[in-house]
Amino acid sequence: MTDPKVEFAVWTKLVPESEIRRLLKFRVKYYFAGGKPGVLPLGAFPMILNTLALRELEDIFSGKEIDVIEDYNYGPTDGLPEVKKVMASILRERDGIDLDPSEGWRDVLITTGSQQAIYLLLDVLLNPDDLVIVPAPVYLGFVNVVTKFRGQVIAVPGDKQGMIPENVDRAIKLAENKLGKKPKLIYVVPDSDNPSGTTMPESRRRALLDVAKSNGIYLLEDAAYREIQFRGERLKPIRAFDDGSTVIYMRTTSKEVAVLRVAYSLMPPEIREEVVKAKGYNDLCTPTIVQKIAKLYYERYFSQFIEKVREGYKRRYEAMARAIDENFPSGERTDPTGGFFIWWESDNRKFNSKKFLEEIAIPNDILYVPGQAFYPLKGYLYSVEKGDLMDASNRPTNAMRLSYSYMEPDKIEEGIRKLGSLLKAHL
Ligand SMILES: Cc1ncc(COP(=O)(O)O)c(C=O)c1O
Repeated sequence: MTDPKVEFAVWTKLVPESEIRRLLKFRVKYYFAGGKPGVLPLGAFPMILNTLALRELEDIFSGKEIDVIEDYNYGPTDGLPEVKKVMASILRERDGIDLDPSEGWRDVLITTGSQQAIYLLLDVLLNPDDLVIVPAPVYLGFVNVVTKFRGQVIAVPGDKQGMIPENVDRAIKLAENKLGKKPKLIYVVPDSDNPSGTTMPESRRRALLDVAKSNGIYLLEDAAYREIQFRGERLKPIRAFDDGSTVIYMRTTSKEVAVLRVAYSLMPPEIREEVVKAKGYNDLCTPTIVQKIAKLYYERYFSQFIEKVREGYKRRYEAMARAIDENFPSGERTDPTGGFFIWWESDNRKFNSKKFLEEIAIPNDILYVPGQAFYPLKGYLYSVEKGDLMDASNRPTNAMRLSYSYMEPDKIEEGIRKLGSLLKAHL
């Protein structure tokens, strides 16, 4: 690479390229790496595009070119009103969120993916050295943005039911006593976490909200896998228990429809205002034409397809879970009730899954994400045994995140069988 002519911003040295983006370069036969959706409502898109095309032709021939010009134009920074109205009814009807039936739609914020919403939220909240509580392991698309804004994370390990609210509360108190600062935000993925695959029961959802409220801080509920719940009861989101003053609630089309780069959020009004201001300088608006595609999808096809989409992922999960149980060496895996990922940990703590990926898995046409990628590079880790905050740079190496979202069940079975025999030979 050519040397920069001038010194770049400090963060460019602090934040590495995302491990998932780096792995996208590899073309392999067995792809278990990124959370790429592989079950898409394919039949719906040609119909939607056809509807839009016919409507535009009619407009052009009837002298209403201006409507077509608007389809390909800048729109309001916080989203098109007609799109926000459709998303508001999804949030009311499917999530039980108490949005005012006539005016509540105004609270919905459309962003260019929920990744943008995460980025803008952290941009608005964080000054250097500000603290954020995250699960350990954690979605790296969140934690690396915290580092980008020079914030610090306190990672709190969970169990098979996700984050443990009492430990989150202890970590907040420790931060205040030892670091002299109260964290500003708790980050959580309650429905089928990325990467661990855990789902939080209702009691924990309520307790975590209480922790955020009693400490006077915000809680970001990232509901990316909200609609991909294929086993067990449908739980209410944390936002449904909140009056709208504490929880930032993010949903996206990416996993439940397709990667349209259209996401929909609710935020406490004081945050929302600043986030919209930041968005104005970030992308001005989310592309109008894709918002219209999303609107038509939710209006006409969502209820018809979501069951099939969910069923498709369930079959992929079953194929992977079975193949791991039958073929992997001794270790432990999570048992997700939804989402895209299984987290597997070898019993051998010395196993280095990153080294194994580079030296053995990739040459054998298999890709997954090593567990190390989901632990913060720096910051603090709450140690349950010691009841204290430790340096987070000591990251476990023996885990991997396996995504079952992209490949067909028979290919999953084939690839996992192959990975299992390579792991057995290695371990
Ligand atoms: C937990 C989580 N949050 C957010 C995102 C980003 O989603 P989007 O495609 O809406 O930007 C992802 C994508 O993988 C994710 O897994």
